[in-house]
Amino acid sequence: MSKVKDRSLASQGQLKIDWAREHMPVLGRIRARFEKEQPFKGLSIGMCIHLEMKTAVLGQTFQAGGATVAITGSNPLSTQDDVAAALAESGVNVYAWRGVTPEEHHGNLMRVLSDNPQILIDDGAELSVAVHREKKELLGRVVGACEETTTGVHRYRAMEKDGILKYPVIAVNDAFTKFLFDSQHGTGQSALEGVMRCTNLLIAGKTLVVAGFGWVGRGIALRAKGLGASVVVTEVDPVRALEASMEGYRVMTMLEAAKVGDIFITSTGCKNIITAEHLREMKDGAILANAGHFDVEIDVKALRSNAIATKVARQNVEQFTMKNGRRLYLLAEGRLVNLAAADGHPAEVMDMSFANQALAAEYLLKNKGKLEPKVYKMPLEMDRQIARVWLESHSVKIDTLTEEQRKYLESWE
Ligand code: NAI
Repeated sequence: MSKVKDRSLASQGQLKIDWAREHMPVLGRIRARFEKEQPFKGLSIGMCIHLEMKTAVLGQTFQAGGATVAITGSNPLSTQDDVAAALAESGVNVYAWRGVTPEEHHGNLMRVLSDNPQILIDDGAELSVAVHREKKELLGRVVGACEETTTGVHRYRAMEKDGILKYPVIAVNDAFTKFLFDSQHGTGQSALEGVMRCTNLLIAGKTLVVAGFGWVGRGIALRAKGLGASVVVTEVDPVRALEASMEGYRVMTMLEAAKVGDIFITSTGCKNIITAEHLREMKDGAILANAGHFDVEIDVKALRSNAIATKVARQNVEQFTMKNGRRLYLLAEGRLVNLAAADGHPAEVMDMSFANQALAAEYLLKNKGKLEPKVYKMPLEMDRQIARVWLESHSVKIDTLTEEQRKYLESWE
């Protein structure tokens, strides 16, 4: 049933999955409950999400809850073939391998949908866009979808606004226990890890330009500052630019930043952030990476068409010699550097994100027929419960309001 690169990699992949599971206690507790209660018994769940070890733990959690699970990766370079093989061995229908072409990726999306899923776990809204455009026969069957990332939530909101969304969607990305930790600290750490693994160069003393000061951008800026970089932020939102400025970062336009940056990391969720006019200004040796969801932030076509020579400089590093003789280095083809060139977010933050996914899927089922075809936030009480369990699992205790304090806070007198 599954289509993966090499089934013989399964034991190596299983070790990775075991490691992640041991560091995901919140999801572990949910899994134990799912095993008993079997909330997904007889149901099919379709997933399109970066296929690495933490995602495998989520897939197996649904399986433990009684679901049949089908999965594909959400980026050509983020699938780890050993994890995919191990997941396939454990009975999940896996349609993914590293380096899929756009056509193969589309084929894999359709394979997941051919398993007739009732719940969709999406990362970038790809499964749902395919259902609404090409697999309309599933529209009466899909109970709802859970969306993992900002770009996907934007797409779902646009579908709702255009009146074409046909089932409810939970914006898992917008849960506090997701974006405050996964988007900020998870991407902050793992994007820099991706840059360091690719280049083996020093961050300290370099000027690192972060495009976009959202949850992802501020995480990258914070970690880069901690590693000794001089951080520059580019923005289009005046409030976020002000925040960046008051946190001590230099704020400027990309055209100005292009002249001073040594390392560039885009994290806007928008397109054409680094274009030909910026590339022309960049210093010899500048390094370009992206942490945004789609590979549209750095204009790779412009990089290619303005280069007089290219070569693979290291694994995941392509060197472009430009017409002005300067060398620019593109990491991981301009795709999410933390997943394409590293292992993605640390397990402890994905524990919270995927606890949200697991509870959101269960919530959709429990409320089948009661929700409108809209984008919903994660219920706040579930979000807070995940934070509580995470703290408990890490032996962190907090105080509780006394009755007197509670009354004081609720009183106007
Ligand atoms: P956000 O919406 O909080 O922040 C994006 C920021 O970029 C905003 O402040 C916006 O004003 C700014 N921006 C937009 N267009 C811009 C432009 N042309 N120039 C400069 N700044 C611009 O979004 P968030 O949550 O930070 O996500 C950013 C991207 O990262 C999204 O594509 C999201 O899906 C992706 N993401 C990637 C992850 C990873 O593992 N690499 C993890 C989480 C999110």
